[in-house]
Amino acid sequence: MYHLMKKTSNLPAALQRCFLSNAPKAAIPNPDIKYTELFINNEFVKATSGKTFKTLNPANGEIIAQVQKGNSVDVNNAVEAAQEAFKLGSPWRTMDASKRGVLLNKLADLMERDIVYLASLESLDNGKPYKVSLSHDVPGSINALRYYAGWADKNHGKVTPIDGNYFAYTRHEPVGVCGQIIPWNVPLLMLSWKFGPALAMGNTIVLKPAEQTPLTALYIANLVKEAGFPPGVINIVPGDGLITGKAIVDHLGVDKIAFTGSTEAGKLIAEGAAKTNLKRITLELGGKSPNIIFNDIDIDQAVQGAHYGLFYNMGQCCCAGSRTFVQESIYDEFVEKSAKLAEKRIVGNQFDPNTDQGPQVDQEQLTKILSLIESGKQQGAQLVTGGSRVGDKGYFVQPTVFANVKDDMKIAKEEIFGPVQQILKFKDFDEVISRANNTDYGLAAAVFSKNIDTVNKVVQSVRAGTVWVNCYNVFGAQVPFGGFKMSGLGREMGEYGLQPYTEVKTVIVTTPQKNN
Ligand code: NAI
Ligand code: MG
Repeated sequence: MYHLMKKTSNLPAALQRCFLSNAPKAAIPNPDIKYTELFINNEFVKATSGKTFKTLNPANGEIIAQVQKGNSVDVNNAVEAAQEAFKLGSPWRTMDASKRGVLLNKLADLMERDIVYLASLESLDNGKPYKVSLSHDVPGSINALRYYAGWADKNHGKVTPIDGNYFAYTRHEPVGVCGQIIPWNVPLLMLSWKFGPALAMGNTIVLKPAEQTPLTALYIANLVKEAGFPPGVINIVPGDGLITGKAIVDHLGVDKIAFTGSTEAGKLIAEGAAKTNLKRITLELGGKSPNIIFNDIDIDQAVQGAHYGLFYNMGQCCCAGSRTFVQESIYDEFVEKSAKLAEKRIVGNQFDPNTDQGPQVDQEQLTKILSLIESGKQQGAQLVTGGSRVGDKGYFVQPTVFANVKDDMKIAKEEIFGPVQQILKFKDFDEVISRANNTDYGLAAAVFSKNIDTVNKVVQSVRAGTVWVNCYNVFGAQVPFGGFKMSGLGREMGEYGLQPYTEVKTVIVTTPQKNN
């Protein structure tokens, strides 16, 4: 893996395997913005309030487009469309499960056809390097849809040997109308992670993209129509969290919420879902993931793994390895090498092929990151490299490395969501496990060691939803993802990801006589 990582900038082998493109395809740096309206019942419509909001290019702060802003009236229209599409006897409810899989594959085909446009649009709206959108975000999204397309006719129930003269079985039925609220860090990928299992299991959807990055979701809406999904199965209502998002959460016609974003918003959503109609919820929230590096490793591999685990996607990852614990005998060398690697990162415009790191998504994130960097300095962490904004246009931050970070510093406790690496020193196993687990979060963790006993002990001791061993940020449509503790509730992806989108119905039938 390390070998491949060195060859192709910072992407590890597992990500390379999900690439669909053989040769690099040039970006469209100024993609036409074709869709800016709400998508309800397979039609693009204006917001009833007439209000719009602007989405910006994070590289220069300039407006890309004005997007229609949904409010509770629009959300209600979308929910009604989704309810209609979910009615008994509707085209969607009477469709063969295998056909739902065909539709999902068709949507994936159309995304593959338009991969350059989609990757360009994602990069324009979000700021992430085009080469990453093209090689990771869009192919990963396509993979997720194809994976769940295969599940559409395979999530069957069980026949159960009940006592008495009865025949019992379970049916896995769709939950109903699913509200899906997604963030801006990997917009298309989060849409696909949520569309895939919901649609495979026969649910209908009202999705709200993040206010910073609404554009790819609206383009997908057009592909949804082209693929042939019946009207009302998928509805997309852009807008902000507290109005549009809250309207989805509070709506009595919504049966389930799937959310990815901050722990703070996740708690409000859980509260809203409980207070209204006890909606089912899945939450994928924040993290402060420990990456534990033991002194028996190949130091260059571990430095590279920790670097990738933190700096990938400008540090805007819920599972970022933002507490790098390094054993004391290799600590100084590790810090020095990490700083050198951070200094090599090319920061720049998302469409420049040399760029490793684009801008942060918006001014709010830039301000938050710079203030956390300031707190690190004030609380006595050693700023080894970086620490400042880059330029005065756009939202760029220098790749930053802090050493001598102590557990009680803000930068060791709070999610920074930026290109800021914290390196902490530890002596022995028991100490590092207790420090690694001393957090409200539990999304991911990693261990770098060649000692199988050490690895197994870490795997069993850390309280986290994913543990990477001698790698970081490796995802697959086939494996579940989600958090322990305040990092979330439930799992997305893989077979486990089907459960939150199904209700189990038990059917018990009298039989004249039982024969074993
Ligand atoms: P956020 O959690 O407020 O926003 C994420 C999504 O939730 C957006 O679509 C937003 O409109 C919606 N939302 C916000 N409040 C809502 C509410 N009360 N009801 C319904 N929907 C609501 O995150 P934000 O403000 O964009 O970023 C703040 C911090 O959150 C970041 O600095 C980062 O630490 C964390 N974050 C974590 C993410 C993850 O992948 N786990 C993704 C985005 C942010
Ligand atoms: Mg934007």
